[in-house]
Amino acid sequence: MEKKKILTGDRPTGKLHIGHYFGSLKKRVELQESGEYEPYILIADVQALTDNFNHPEKVRDNVREVAIDYLSVGINPEKTTIYIQSMIPEVAELTVFYSNFVTIARLQRNPTVKTEIEQKRDLFGESVTYGFLGYPVSQAADITAFEGAFVPVGEDQLPLIEQCREIVRKFNHVYGDILVEPEAVLSSGKRIKGLDGNEKMGKSLGNAIYLSDSEEVIMEKVMGAVTDPNRIKKDDLGNPDVCMVAYYHNLFTSKEDCKKVCEECRAGKRGCVACKKELAKNIIEELRPIREKRAYYEAHPELVDAILKEGTKKARNTAKATMKKIKQAMMLNYFDDTEMSV
Ligand code: TRP
Repeated sequence: MEKKKILTGDRPTGKLHIGHYFGSLKKRVELQESGEYEPYILIADVQALTDNFNHPEKVRDNVREVAIDYLSVGINPEKTTIYIQSMIPEVAELTVFYSNFVTIARLQRNPTVKTEIEQKRDLFGESVTYGFLGYPVSQAADITAFEGAFVPVGEDQLPLIEQCREIVRKFNHVYGDILVEPEAVLSSGKRIKGLDGNEKMGKSLGNAIYLSDSEEVIMEKVMGAVTDPNRIKKDDLGNPDVCMVAYYHNLFTSKEDCKKVCEECRAGKRGCVACKKELAKNIIEELRPIREKRAYYEAHPELVDAILKEGTKKARNTAKATMKKIKQAMMLNYFDDTEMSV
């Protein structure tokens, strides 16, 4: 039997950080290694342009960065197809077709889009672009062009998957059972807080540890992490519950050592500096294999390009096959495609 397809992706607007790692990348590698699915990962450059249309160079530069991040964490191009969204024109075509199945009011109500528009007032002012408002439609095209059955995402993406499911149901109601209705799979991963204690680690918040950070940079960032504000002197009794260093120890340090860290902190027997150094060392160790793989791919950009080219070619074939079915159902199959090629 054919394996069900998994589809996920990221906007290439910056390098990926440990929030992505725990939030989604680990899960993607796990799903890939289970061998039960056929995974696709898209680098959503067209979607990234919806709010970076005036910075094409930023999107362009980050396509390769994100691809290297994927390869470094263990996404294996032999098992997972990595492709570039803009090189699949079927996705743009489908976006146009699907726009008949979504109202402007519904897009405006989408909680994810709504929040993002609020956050991007600088860019959009009082009136958002058609492209940005409509990106959930293009995301529905991303998913359905590949007959994605499962979409592993973080919580913030759930309204987008729901919107895709609605489009699929409406489309299928009119044109027959053509599209696969996807299911969101919540990446087990928790949302990782920032070094500054912010609920979210984010590129724009300047509180992230990147998968590409050097040992020195990791050390420096950890030394600047927020600790218990009431602990001034080393022998003050600490409260690990409000300390970002303790929070990260839980992610990067063995259970046993974590317990020790917290006990010593509460008893005022462990200084913050030593505690931070130990944490930084553990983060550096955990990310070492990722950094080493990264260095390898950075030194071989031609290899990364070949992987992207190969993946995109394969993805295009899958999307073409889906498109054929869709055009037939929509009565847009006028002539034999092969005769029409110029
Ligand atoms: N919206 C996703 C993000 O901001 C990226 C994305 C684009 C995506 N197309 C997708 C995710 C399809 C899952 C499925 O990170």
